[in-house]
Amino acid sequence: MPRFSKAVSSLRSSEIRDLMTLASRPDIISFAGGMPGNDLFPVKEVEELYRELDIKIKQAAFQYGPTPGLPSLLESLQGFLEKKGLPVHENRLLITTGSQQALNILGKAFIDPREPVLVENPCFIGALSAFRSYDAELRGVPVDVEGISIDVLRQEIDRKEKAKFLYITPYFHNPAGVLYTTERKQQLIAALQGTNIPLIEDDAYGDLYFYKEDADRLKPIKAINPEGINICYTGSFSKILGPGLRLGWMLVPEKIYGKCELIKQSADACSPSFTQVLADAFIRSGQIYSYIDGVRQEYKKRASAMVAALREYLPDYVQWSEPRGGFYLWLTLPEGTDATRIVTLAIEGGAVFVVGKTFDPEGRQNNSLRLSYCNNTPEQIAEGIPIVANAIRTICG
Ligand SMILES: Cc1ncc(COP(=O)(O)O)c(C=O)c1O
Repeated sequence: MPRFSKAVSSLRSSEIRDLMTLASRPDIISFAGGMPGNDLFPVKEVEELYRELDIKIKQAAFQYGPTPGLPSLLESLQGFLEKKGLPVHENRLLITTGSQQALNILGKAFIDPREPVLVENPCFIGALSAFRSYDAELRGVPVDVEGISIDVLRQEIDRKEKAKFLYITPYFHNPAGVLYTTERKQQLIAALQGTNIPLIEDDAYGDLYFYKEDADRLKPIKAINPEGINICYTGSFSKILGPGLRLGWMLVPEKIYGKCELIKQSADACSPSFTQVLADAFIRSGQIYSYIDGVRQEYKKRASAMVAALREYLPDYVQWSEPRGGFYLWLTLPEGTDATRIVTLAIEGGAVFVVGKTFDPEGRQNNSLRLSYCNNTPEQIAEGIPIVANAIRTICG
């Protein structure tokens, strides 16, 4: 047996990845993956933009680029982020290979083996696996419909062994779908100020809002720019252009940036120049804004189809909230239910989703499940939800 390091010995393939194998069976309706719909990608628009590029830019696209990112993309992305009120000038922007790499870099920058980090429970699986790969002790803080539990957060902050950072996904949380309230964000700021615990604010889905009136709730904490908290803001082109580009970013204080750039240099030297050129052209043409507007409408339609089907078919004892944006709907089942039994039945019936314990930092709590509506037509949703509801009734009664 090869002698692997301690940090990777504990890594396991995630249930999502394993389920993806099933999800690719053509007869299964998959509510499992958090992938944009293939039919929604701006293939024609990007083809056209590429064709019109100058030969010098096309050549540069095949070349290595600077570690922080292509200067032209850093400039256009700055404009995009400043529209959200983000203080780009007072911080440093680093292009990453997906925002997954941003999380990995931040994990590496802060975590020594067995050191505690605070995460939400449930939590984005990619963040859990990034932090686990540095052998972090993951401490879960519950999330309710308004955001992270401030009482539990304060208890965690007061513990003797101080957490290295707090990681949150406040805007259309993956998997819980939650959009933090403005009040909860303010309480969170107050709890963190003066603690010297950095905040990693993951904003992978904030652009995909369904209601304009949520603007205040969507304002990043990084944009509020509170005194005395080091905020590492991460974002991604995956949901607003395509995950195949493998492009994300982090916006971090200067003192954190230096280390992150060095870590990135050792990881991949630079993110793909080719897709950086495409992303830059997409922003500069202004099409990014009309494209996001279009997909927002489409995801809203898909979410409404799922809400309508859940209202019709789910038993009353299942708790859930209507999504206000993003990709996900979170169902909470009666205490003690094992969602793995439900998904096994659902797969037999022809539908798949992800069970709750996948997102529990301790991998235990399983009376919940995540449904994604992003990659299905309203017709597929109408066909698949009764299968899920039947499986729930069979197991829970
Ligand atoms: C909350 C969250 N953060 C980050 C990512 C990583 O996305 P990417 O690496 O494609 O930018 C995802 C992907 O699903 C996500 O859901």
